[in-house]
Order: sequence, then C-alpha cells, then structure tokens
Amino acid sequence: MEYRQLAPFPKDFLWGAASAAYQIEGAYQEAGKGRSVWDEFVRMPGKTFKGTNGDVAVDHYHRFEEDVALMAQAGLKAYRFSISWPRVLPNGRGPVNEAGLAFYDRLINALIANKIEPIVTIYHWDLPQALQAEYGGWESRHIIEDFTNYARLLFERFGDRVQHWVTLNEQNVFITHGYLTAEHPPAVTDAKRTYQANHIANLANASVIKLFHEKGYQGGIGPSFAYSPTYALNAAPENQLAADNAEQINADLWMDVYAWGRYPKLVMTYLEQNGIAPEMTEADQALLANPLAHPDFMGLNYYQTMTVTTNPLEGGVGLAKQNTSGKKGTSQASGLPGVYKTADNPYMQQTDWDWNIDPEGLRIALRRIESRYGLPVLITENGLGAFDSLQEGGQVHDDYRIAFLKAHIQAIREAITDGVSVIGYTTWSFTDLLSWTNGYQKRYGFVYVDRDETEERELNRYSKDSFYWYQKVIKTNGEVL
Ligand code: BG6
Repeated sequence: MEYRQLAPFPKDFLWGAASAAYQIEGAYQEAGKGRSVWDEFVRMPGKTFKGTNGDVAVDHYHRFEEDVALMAQAGLKAYRFSISWPRVLPNGRGPVNEAGLAFYDRLINALIANKIEPIVTIYHWDLPQALQAEYGGWESRHIIEDFTNYARLLFERFGDRVQHWVTLNEQNVFITHGYLTAEHPPAVTDAKRTYQANHIANLANASVIKLFHEKGYQGGIGPSFAYSPTYALNAAPENQLAADNAEQINADLWMDVYAWGRYPKLVMTYLEQNGIAPEMTEADQALLANPLAHPDFMGLNYYQTMTVTTNPLEGGVGLAKQNTSGKKGTSQASGLPGVYKTADNPYMQQTDWDWNIDPEGLRIALRRIESRYGLPVLITENGLGAFDSLQEGGQVHDDYRIAFLKAHIQAIREAITDGVSVIGYTTWSFTDLLSWTNGYQKRYGFVYVDRDETEERELNRYSKDSFYWYQKVIKTNGEVL
C-alpha cells in the first residue's frame, strides 16, 4: 500500500541499540564468572574467524560507564543487553555470584540515571559450560528448571527496574547452528538431536514466560526471533511451494510455538516422515498451550530476506556454511533436499558477507507477524555489518550504514502506518563488538572500537557519522531521517 501521509512513530517509541554479553564484556574469568560454552568453543581450531574470541571483547565490563555516557549523548531511549548466565551463576545453578549480579546492577542503575530503559535479554547464547558438561545443556530436560530458576533470580533482583525482558535470543539460530551445522557450540550435526534440543528450548522459554506472568512481575516478556521472510524466486507454482515450505520450516516452526503453543502440522509431518520429530509428552503440550506461557510481544531480529527455489530430493543442495571472511560472493546456495534451496535475488544488493539488503523485507516481516499472531513487535536487532575505517582525527564516515538504517526506519514507519504495533527499535549494535564467528572486522556499531583480530590496542571509542545521524533521528522521533 502507498499512503499520502505516513503515521508518526508512537510518542514513547523505544529508539535504542543492542548488544550481547559475550560480544562486548570481556573479563571472561573475572570476579567469579564461570566459563560459558563459547569460552570453550572459540578455542576449537578453525571455528572462528582468525581464531578470535571474546576474552577481552571490547572490554565493556570495565568501560560500561563510558559506554553508557555515549548512549546518553546519542539520546538512546532504550538499550538492549544480555546478562551472562555464568557470570551470575558460575555453575549454571546453585551458588549465586553476587559480584556478577552487582555488575548488572550498576549497569542498570547507570542506564536509568541517564533515562535509558534497560531491555534485558536473559539468554544470548553463553550457556554455562558446567551445564553442558553435566547434562548436555539444551539436550536435557534439566535445563528447563535451571533456566527458570536463573530467570527468577533476574526477575527478583532487577524486576523493579526492567520493563522489557527477552527470554531466548534467536533460538532458531543457536539451535540450528549448534546442532545442525556445527557453526556454534556444541558443534553437533544431527537433525534428530536438533529438533529435540529445540523442543526443550521451547519448554524452557514457555516455563520462564509462565513464571513471569504467574508472579505478576511488571512489564512484558517475549523471545527474540531471527526472522528472514521468504520470497519465491518467481511465480512458478513449484517455487511458490518451496517458499511456503521454507517459511513454515524456518519461521512458523518457532513463532507458532511461541504465540500459540503448537507446532505447524506440515512441519511436524515432514519431521516425522524423516524420523527427526521431537518427542513430546502431554504435559509438554499443555505447557506450550497455556496462555500464561505466551509472550507479550514478539522480539524481531531482522537482517535480511531469503529467496528460494525448488531443490530435488535426490542430489539436492544441503546446508552450506556462511561467508565469515567478508569476501563478497563466497557464500554458496544452501537448502534442504526436497524442500527448498536459496537463490540469488536479482533485485537485491548484498553486504560484503553476502547478506541481502532489503528494507522492504522488514515491512513484510512486521506485517506477517501482525497478521499471523496479532502481537506487538519489538525490533530487537537490525543493522549493517560492514568494514569501517578510522580516519585521522578519529572520524568514521559510514554513510552506507546511515543509508541502510534510514531505509529500514522508513520501512518501519510504513508498517506502523499499515497498522502494525511496533514498540521500539534497538539497532545492532551500539559499539562495535565481536561478531561471533566473523571476528572484529565485521562492524555494526554507532561507536567504533579500536581493536581488530590481532591487536587489542587501546580499545578507544570513536563516534561514527551514523552516531550523530541517529542522535538526530531520535531527537525528532523519526521525523528527520
Ligand atoms: C544475530 C545475533 O544473529 O545477529 C547477534 O543475535 C549477531 O548476536 C548478529 O551478532 C549479527 O550476526 P553476525 O554473525 O554478523 O555477528
């Protein structure tokens, strides 16, 4: 739809930026912190770009005051960050590390003192290694209770100051990368185990949301889902079918469970046919279907769309590894034989890591979530990973990032005009940070951090051009882009 006039952004729109503990904090074994599965995984040869790790990351743990001051200068209304589970519970359960909780207490208070709303992600992938070693992490039902107790601890300690909680960050990514493609810990490639671990993660997510609602904590709670809406390569009916397959297996399989507590029938049939369906009890189904276990909002991490075509069952393309080097054009088609495979979309440009640049896709994602689930959406991530260069005088001219964000904000405004309820927009990311398997060279921040894969340097912060641009966007509540 085209409109003569666009609706304004809501008055209390949460303009913000986001991060995750492992990617920024560093201090990986300081003040009683336990090890996480990422602390182990990054030490496995060949797993991350040039062997990078988050031991120091961008040292946010020691520099959070400086970072919050920069957020205040940018005028952020909200900051989404994650709590490191092993920093507050070194063994994943049992004894609490008060020093770890105190760090987040200071961070939350600093944000509030600067009128920045803290949005807390409970789990952004840094599972306590102790739980992985003890019972296999997400593959064991023990994690449901442990994750719920961990979340309860956070609700009790920080619930008086936090209004928005994110349960699991990108369950679809950490499960498929962890158990299907081995690109994340625990580096398994087993489809049966993938869907079983995923089911257990669903139960853990539901259990935490149910607790939150039963106890009547203030504010709202929901998962963050990495949603890449699917397009068919063209109007050929078989390609439309492939797109429908992909949408159901890559998106509905998660969001239907979050919002409605039931698995899409088509996907379950497919998983059963292939002997990889999760084992489910009646009690599981009752928990998932309990309205108290359903989210108050859908967290949306949007980076790109995916275009697909058919993929033969015999000799079809399987899952491919991602481009983690930033050498444009090095990624390959990826798919599931008999289901779909990815194809180049001739209408789109790509980043240096071969991610499609598609602002319209964000509007489509928002509209699909609204029409399927009727839930408000909190955009918990969106941003451009790019090579930036620090110029003399400490400037970074990232006009490409400004163009990217501008187009995406415009798309959000169009979706709001379409009637989608959007609570806020926390871009990825505030400062530059460790990009998991892509090292430090893939930068997303408004603030440049002077370090790379081989040298930590001074870790000084420099505001990029996009920082000053976003400052103006926030000041005008999105009127001036
Ligand atoms: C999301 C994650 O997958 O996308 C972030 O929630 C991540 O933690 C971001 O950094 C960008 O992905 P990448 O692989 O470019 O760092």
